[in-house]
Amino acid sequence: MNLNSANNKTLENVAIIGNGGRENALAWAIQKNDAIQKVYLIPGNGGSSSINKCKTIDLDYSDTDTLLNKLSELEIDLVVIGSEIPLGMGLGNILRDRNFLVFGPNKDGAKLESSKSWAKSFMRDANIPTANFWRVTSIDDSTNIINSNKNPLVVKADGLASGKGVFIPETKEETAAITRDILKGRFGEAGKVVVLEEKINGPEISVFALCDGEKYILLPTAQDHKRVGEGDKGLNTGGMGAYSPTPLISNNELMEICKIIVEPTIKELKKRKINYKGVLYFGLMITDDGPKVIEYNCRFGDPECQTIMPLMDKEFVNLLYKCAMGTLKGDEKILKNNKCSGCVIATSKGYPLDYEIGFPIKINDTKSKDMQVFHSGTTLNNNGELLTNGGRVLSVVCQGNSFDEAFEKAYSTINDISFKGIFYRKDIGHQVRNIKKEINK
Ligand code: AMP
Ligand code: GLY
Repeated sequence: MNLNSANNKTLENVAIIGNGGRENALAWAIQKNDAIQKVYLIPGNGGSSSINKCKTIDLDYSDTDTLLNKLSELEIDLVVIGSEIPLGMGLGNILRDRNFLVFGPNKDGAKLESSKSWAKSFMRDANIPTANFWRVTSIDDSTNIINSNKNPLVVKADGLASGKGVFIPETKEETAAITRDILKGRFGEAGKVVVLEEKINGPEISVFALCDGEKYILLPTAQDHKRVGEGDKGLNTGGMGAYSPTPLISNNELMEICKIIVEPTIKELKKRKINYKGVLYFGLMITDDGPKVIEYNCRFGDPECQTIMPLMDKEFVNLLYKCAMGTLKGDEKILKNNKCSGCVIATSKGYPLDYEIGFPIKINDTKSKDMQVFHSGTTLNNNGELLTNGGRVLSVVCQGNSFDEAFEKAYSTINDISFKGIFYRKDIGHQVRNIKKEINK
């Protein structure tokens, strides 16, 4: 079937670069479109090939010659780059140079995530609300700044650090010690520059805009749960669960966020001649002074993506395609229904610190249309047995007419899953349970 009457190309084969729950959720949403013949996950994980129309390709994307040859051989019509690492190293440029249609920004746009100091200057130039900040490269400079501030500052390594480069110290002494540590090489090149930031307060939400370089369309909002422990305590993780859409902001507040954050971001990108074709992920804090950007990411959130994908109708892949081609209208409808979605992540004991892998996983195979189990860190051994292979192992996602219903299903599903050392938070969605649903349409 021809999806793109604009230039008579057909969209049949899609490749997704990445190996997490996010990429499996994208593949699952993409394959729903009848025109899609095949979705290749490069390299994917232990659950990827059991998704309808999906196949894994065991290939290292950093070997770009082999990747390019494979994509040509498979007649790939669209490449979706899932993770910030290939985006930050410029895989988008390499693929576009060879005329592939790509969803995901080039290296210049990915800098919104790969350099926090660059992103902060970007926001300052565009007058986008964010916490005050100082960029430092020496211990002397940082000492002056830390001492001249009344409160301890938040400390961030400039570059990509797998979510581990942000610290929220309680005292100025701690602030100074962490800054010194980072500047002395704790995160290698990623810590050559440090961003010191004023600490701000408020609930955090994730806003996603699919962007074709000019126009954008919002996905449903979400709220992540970054801390490992119940009551939002303990170490930061990649995300222990999420729900969508979040009733923490009203429709009017979301429109205001578009006006003061989303649109100025796209305008500033254009001003800098950055043709951003991909998803803009705004990590926001809703403070007493209004919404402020905590961080930008240049890819979908994980586990927000797993949570949002089941809410999309089968036209979702066409939006990615339009972004890649620069033909988004900005008024496309994407919601399948207005259900609530909730996701709980099953992790390996010890995550986000040390954990063991290689344990057999038992999943009760009952299928339901409002329930998905996306694999995050899993692998298949030579006998085809499913084993744990990461800190975050499975993403259990359910939908319902209320968050209570969605999470009841999610917890009853996850209770039936077992592997040695399985751990999950029991309070995901605590912010929205036992309250009436209000959805930003
Ligand atoms: P990031 O990796 O930049 O998203 O930061 C990780 C977490 O640190 C965020 O989700 C926030 O909870 C917290 N954080 C980052 N920057 C600030 C800030 N300026 N004030 C308060 N908390 C922050
Ligand atoms: N869930 C947070 C992230 O993907 O960075």
